[in-house]
Amino acid sequence: KTGSWEARADLVVVGSGVAGLTAALRARELGLRVLLVTKAAIEDGNTRWAQGGVAVVLDGERDDGDSVARHVEDTLAAGAGLCEPDAVRTILHAGPAAVSWLRSRGARFDPGTGGLLARTREGGHSAFRVIHAGGDATGAEVQRSLVAQSAGLPVLERHIAVDALLTPRGEVGGVAVLDPDGVPGRLRAPAVLLATGGLGQLYQATSNPEIATGDGLALALRAGAPAADLEFVQFHPTVLYTPGARGRCPLVTEAVRGEGAVLVDGAGAPVMHGVHPLGDLAPRDVVSAAITRRMAAAPGGIEDHVFLDATGISGFDRRFPTVQAACRAIGVDPAREPIPVTPAAHFACGGVLAGTDGRTGVRGLYAAGEVARTGLHGANRLASNSLLEGLVAGTAAAEAVAADLAAGLLADPRQAAEPDRVVPVAERDALQRVMSRYAALGRDADGLAVAGSVLDLRLTHGPMRKQREVEDAALTLVAHALVAAAARRTESRGCHLRSDFPGRDDESWRRSQFIRLSPSGQ
Ligand code: SIN
Repeated sequence: KTGSWEARADLVVVGSGVAGLTAALRARELGLRVLLVTKAAIEDGNTRWAQGGVAVVLDGERDDGDSVARHVEDTLAAGAGLCEPDAVRTILHAGPAAVSWLRSRGARFDPGTGGLLARTREGGHSAFRVIHAGGDATGAEVQRSLVAQSAGLPVLERHIAVDALLTPRGEVGGVAVLDPDGVPGRLRAPAVLLATGGLGQLYQATSNPEIATGDGLALALRAGAPAADLEFVQFHPTVLYTPGARGRCPLVTEAVRGEGAVLVDGAGAPVMHGVHPLGDLAPRDVVSAAITRRMAAAPGGIEDHVFLDATGISGFDRRFPTVQAACRAIGVDPAREPIPVTPAAHFACGGVLAGTDGRTGVRGLYAAGEVARTGLHGANRLASNSLLEGLVAGTAAAEAVAADLAAGLLADPRQAAEPDRVVPVAERDALQRVMSRYAALGRDADGLAVAGSVLDLRLTHGPMRKQREVEDAALTLVAHALVAAAARRTESRGCHLRSDFPGRDDESWRRSQFIRLSPSGQ
């Protein structure tokens, strides 16, 4: 396709989940000209699939001695030594105000007793502090309320961001995009915020939708921004097991265990007995690893699922309508029989290195939400901290852009241009197979070496002229970076499990790994 078109703004926000929409709305409040671009429809994305809730300790909502300080402690414990404590404190202390902002603009969370909001528990939390909406449809309510407020916001749907526009000094001055017909365009702006979410599509089984292909992370790496903690991909312990499932697997929220359900194996023996003091509510890296070990130890060879016994929860269908519907669709009645579950790729704990205000290592480029690595999650994210991070960091990023613009710190976007690139691309099915086999839960040096060389063997090179090509190029770059980081980290920590290095090695490895490509993308 030939032809090109241009648009201008103060801030281009890429992505329309919780972080992107929050940032766009806050930037509009601050008087910035905002343009939001999303490769699907505005309501699509990962946010709407979030079930469990938002972990937050709300002022005036406590009756059990919980505190933000305890939330901080739980987050640091789950993060297995790699959280940035300042980032954790900054984000969690800003949480109550961010949630109040959302509620004041129409988000409705489920009521509990005594005029307080209902609260549940999830893995790694020492208190009941996860608020939820629609039972287990929290993300859908967050997304609904943000989309409802977005009336009048300029939004380009079904446009994919391909590459950053860079000035001769390597500053970002906008993004190159493809419209729905594949016609290239340029969105010129002194500030670009990446809020593109995660990368679950690196794997065959994931809780993430088709769009979670690591695009923002790849774009940032190609623009020269550093990234960190890429080896820490969190596997959710319980997605609904259906034989041979591919693509997005329905989540069985951890809140089901929060309300008393128990993981059992095929023989009915509890999986988490004696594994961790928090039992079924241990941090999710611990639970996923225990399930994986139990599946591997099953008599007669490797099992591919265990069960979640929720038959003791009364009113399951009212408390968990989303899970109930997914179970019924495969003929399982959670009130009467255990739910077949298995771990699946769920959340990227690492990402583009960013402050809690979204600033990255490249002037003019900001990142918030799952695509960013702020240091909140460390080696393993605490359940339900991510919707909160999206709200807090989205707001802070919009404010940082406004401040940087006012201070004259950003580049003149008229000088920016997109690099002319040919990028390596691996075939998606092969990439997902190899990542699932060698770079998922349970890794070792030999497998990671095989993964690296299979990815190399499968490469072709080409331009990014269609959405699928942009996504495949992103998956390829991110897979290479992840495999390299996983191979270098010779220990097990958080979500990164090495069978050849089963112990945690604080002496050598209590640190993040940073990666940076040259802006030419090499
Ligand atoms: C869940 O509901 O189990 C998912 C929550 C999360 O990933 O934070």
